[in-house]
Amino acid sequence: MIMTRWFVVASLLAAAAIAVPGFGSVGAASISYALPEETAAFRPGPNLDTVQTNCTGCHSADYIQTQPRGPKYKKDFWQAEVTKMIKLYGAPIADADVPKIVEYLAATY
Ligand code: HEC
Repeated sequence: MIMTRWFVVASLLAAAAIAVPGFGSVGAASISYALPEETAAFRPGPNLDTVQTNCTGCHSADYIQTQPRGPKYKKDFWQAEVTKMIKLYGAPIADADVPKIVEYLAATY
């Protein structure tokens, strides 16, 4: 009978160890790692600072650099891209900055 009771107490303690975070565990070790070098930079152009502020939070300049070129891919194309970043991906870009960014992209890429 006594053996059985000890078994119950031990089981409860084991359950507590699993249920209570940090109880009996060592705690998560922090991990640090170095990011790779940027492989692309924005080209110089009008409103570059506005673009750098608004377009580097989520991805690198490669995404802009690797877009198709030519007369078909100017203002309308970049306007649609910037709208997509805001509407689809939730980029927090002020309305007043949108024309500046589109002007830069159309003139520079
Ligand atoms: C809130 C995060 C965020 C911000 C800020 C952002 N983007 Fe993006 N962008 C994304 C995501 C997500 C994708 C899609 C990634 C994928 O498909 O792998 C993307 C993809 C792109 C692409 C690739 C083509 C495409 O349509 O998928 C271009 C070009 C681009 N972004 C340009 C821009 C420009 C210009 C800005 C600044 C006005 C900007 N992004 C700011 C999230 C963002």
